[in-house]
Amino acid sequence: MRKYLIGLVWLGTIQQTNGQQIASIVGPNKDIDPYHYTVVKRAEFKQAAVSSAHPLASMVGAAIMKKGGNAFDAAIATQLVLAVVFPNAGNIGGGGFLLARKTNGELIGIDYREAAPEKGSRDMYLDKNGNAQLNLSQHGHLASGIPGTIAGLFASHAYAKLPFEVLIQPAIDIAAKGFVLTEKEAASINSIKDAIARFSTQPTAFYRPNRWRVGDTLIQKELAYTLERIQKEGALGFYGGKTADLIVAEMERGRGIISHSDLKNYTAKLREPIVFNYRGHEVVSFAPPSSGGILLAQMMKMIEKYPVSKMGFQSLQSVQLMIEAERRAFADRAEHMGDPDFWKVPVKTMISEAYLSQRMSDYSPDKAGNSKEVNAGVIKESEETTHLSVVDAAGNIVSVTTTLNGSYGSKVVVGGAGFLLNNEMDDFSVKPGVPNMFGAVGGEANSIVPGKRMLSSMTPTLVLKNKKPYIVIGTPGGTTIPTSVYQALVNIIDFNMKIGDAIDLPKFHHQWLPDEVMIENNFNPKTKEALQKMGYTLKDRSSIGRTDGIRILPNKLREAAADRRGDDSVAGY
Ligand code: GLY
Repeated sequence: MRKYLIGLVWLGTIQQTNGQQIASIVGPNKDIDPYHYTVVKRAEFKQAAVSSAHPLASMVGAAIMKKGGNAFDAAIATQLVLAVVFPNAGNIGGGGFLLARKTNGELIGIDYREAAPEKGSRDMYLDKNGNAQLNLSQHGHLASGIPGTIAGLFASHAYAKLPFEVLIQPAIDIAAKGFVLTEKEAASINSIKDAIARFSTQPTAFYRPNRWRVGDTLIQKELAYTLERIQKEGALGFYGGKTADLIVAEMERGRGIISHSDLKNYTAKLREPIVFNYRGHEVVSFAPPSSGGILLAQMMKMIEKYPVSKMGFQSLQSVQLMIEAERRAFADRAEHMGDPDFWKVPVKTMISEAYLSQRMSDYSPDKAGNSKEVNAGVIKESEETTHLSVVDAAGNIVSVTTTLNGSYGSKVVVGGAGFLLNNEMDDFSVKPGVPNMFGAVGGEANSIVPGKRMLSSMTPTLVLKNKKPYIVIGTPGGTTIPTSVYQALVNIIDFNMKIGDAIDLPKFHHQWLPDEVMIENNFNPKTKEALQKMGYTLKDRSSIGRTDGIRILPNKLREAAADRRGDDSVAGY
């Protein structure tokens, strides 16, 4: 990171809440200096660690734990900072899932996925001829579901130790005083600032006539005021009062449909996690309305009876087997998965040994499978999401994946409130049974109903070994999320890799339809050639996912790793 000096006066704050005093941890010469920081890809920490999409977010999470917070405190503070420093996906205008295991063994799944507004309807994106208008489900005001993140953070706070006022302060400081942009973040904002200007109805912090450059400072005053309202008023500082008024006014200016009553009635929900066994490890992942946990269970159980490690890492045999498991799991997704409060998802059957062994009964190691033989649909999702993994000194583990859906969501910044809204409505099946712009189709299970939550692929995951916390992991990447987590876990469990290697090595992805294998362009060329000879259609991708994880080693060291594919960074102590 280039050195960047600015002339702002930094007034340190002292939080005095519930008798606790915690001095501001952000500022020049403080724990976290938003003008000078570096990306750290891999490190081992003795007590606590965070891995997330941005160095400042990870550093804040670690500092919060050092000051007495637990992994839940860190996860809350880290998410709030991501909403400031990683606006592509970090958010308060989107939604997510938190999965955690407390030291007493209790598993916690918090669903704060966005929901369809009351005025939403099954055919809201169809024109008068019945054609899907994907421009409306993907950009602008109508693309947004009711945001869930702030409700989720307050639901998570039930398990935290420090006052929420303290946890939100670093995000307020960084929004108000700014932070320097990395090269990737500057390029990202440049690529999107015209779209944000087009879809937002009022000036935003992201727009300026000149291009953003590495080392420039991004200040988001309106976002800081919104965060301050949340600090003072709690969740009502977002779902009520001035912030709600600003959201609804933005909707009215842009012909969106989110209302005061949508905001007032939104709640986070507890979900029972998906739990399964893989080669002696207990894997815990997220239940519907995310498809992630079921997909992960299906793929891992389908390959479990095969000698994957003997087949060799990214050999033709192991990759072909893994692709065929991916194909079969994704074929089930559209037919059977949706918000469980609106659609009966046959979870038990879908992850049962008997069902999964029958799913692989037509698997042949000698030839490419064919998706035409499977009679179900699959749902497209955009790729910009973000993940954070946290382990604290006591052994609480927290895995959070959160998203606006597409990069910078709907591209609508709420006027006067400074935050981006999601375009998560596109994760519904906008016209059941009809291919969307990516050639994918969805089913009735995921059609739009007011209050229903759109199907997700987010896969925050925990692994226990000998009943003790072992791995915390997850990634962004739309439908590539479950396959990236699957491959990283197989790399660790079957191929004995360090978590950093398991994350960084090239990945592949098959999602049943389209019937092709996306493959990172640095993948083993011999295996690529052999797959093509066998009949697979390969499609090169520059990168798949940005996986952030932590593994707890037998000597208790926290082996933290952040994906090489982004600015992802680890911190701890
Ligand atoms: N919007 C990405 C996902 O929820 O899977």
